[in-house]
Amino acid sequence: MSGAMTEIEVGLDARSYPIRIGSGLVTDMAHWRGAIRGKHVLIVSDENVAPLYAAGVQDLLESADSSLLVDSLTLRAGEAHKNLDAVSKIFDALAQLGATRDACVIALGGGVVGDIAGFAAACWMRGIDFIQVPTTLLAMVDSSVGGKTGVDHAAGKNLIGAFHQPRAVIADLDTLSTLPERELRAGFAEVIKTACIGDAGFFDWLDANANALLARDATALTHAIATCCRYKAAVVACDERESGKRALLNFGHTFGHAIETEAGYGSLLHGEAVAIGMLLAARLSTQLGMSEEIDTQRLRALLQSFCLPTELPRNLKPRALLDRMRLDKKNRAGTLRLILWRGIGHTEIVEGVSEADVLSALATRP
Ligand code: NAD
Ligand code: GLY
Repeated sequence: MSGAMTEIEVGLDARSYPIRIGSGLVTDMAHWRGAIRGKHVLIVSDENVAPLYAAGVQDLLESADSSLLVDSLTLRAGEAHKNLDAVSKIFDALAQLGATRDACVIALGGGVVGDIAGFAAACWMRGIDFIQVPTTLLAMVDSSVGGKTGVDHAAGKNLIGAFHQPRAVIADLDTLSTLPERELRAGFAEVIKTACIGDAGFFDWLDANANALLARDATALTHAIATCCRYKAAVVACDERESGKRALLNFGHTFGHAIETEAGYGSLLHGEAVAIGMLLAARLSTQLGMSEEIDTQRLRALLQSFCLPTELPRNLKPRALLDRMRLDKKNRAGTLRLILWRGIGHTEIVEGVSEADVLSALATRP
């Protein structure tokens, strides 16, 4: 169904691009024109998303422009497959297609597909176009925007990657109708993150609209997705390569990435690990005298109203998590740099937090 569309621009001068949010977008050629410049197109998807949407996109592109050479590649689904093997499969498919420098990769899927396909596009012939077509809530509100691409290493999440901006982001709300419930909830962790970082009013709005959002109400979802994209677009426009404020978007992620890696990729969803990570960051902030306990309690309640986990699984050991945190990309010269807060809507980059304090936050049970 085609309806109202919200468009937000990520302003990066000659590399600026639109984020389009609405219903019926992937089946409307108007949204693809302009984003595809050459003749070769590779649609990259995963084994859950491809059977639902890949053939429709391929048919649309081929029938709209008979000069296009379009192929599809289906990757294995899930974080456990976000690795260099998957990137290599994309290179093989691009070679098979004869993809030249004006080729375009379409990342059709969640954040895993988007990160892998974007990274392959960043590397092929030193960088070709790609279009993000996010089909999870998490990818719509966060991973498809901003140009961070990459894959995991056994030693840690997203340790291999590149900054490479897409040509467009096409977020079609209709695709969310097939998204499993647990994945939808995990996406709300990144939505709540946006509110925690810099928008206390949005935090209150999420609190008041949790039921509508969980029921996939289109108006509420559009507002939530657009609010997150607008916020992220503004941050990326002024700090594309994370030399400053962009680091705030990692609230909860230093803990979250350590939790995800230590638990084993795929056992806790990214959004679930981030939910626990945000609460740990809030707890540590209170412990350091930066914030009030009431804010930590409000965050816990909001996460719980979106049915997200708030406590570390008991089998994860604080010391092992701390070891993982030492390899976080934000760290400098061997000292921990964390994103902490002064309360809802006020995050800060904090340098030199002692390992003893981090261990104490990790060991605290409510
Ligand atoms: P995902 O890509 O694994 O998708 C979740 C699951 O839902 C998968 O099994 C997928 O096959 C399935 N799925 C996707 N869309 C569907 C649909 N419409 N219908 C039915 N099934 C569907 O996970 P995710 O939560 O989207 O993304 C998590 C990843 O995003 C992590 O690897 C994380 O590191 C990354 N991430 C990247 C950034 C960034 O800035 N690049 C930001 C946040 C997260
Ligand atoms: N998800 C963090 C960032 O894009 O910077």
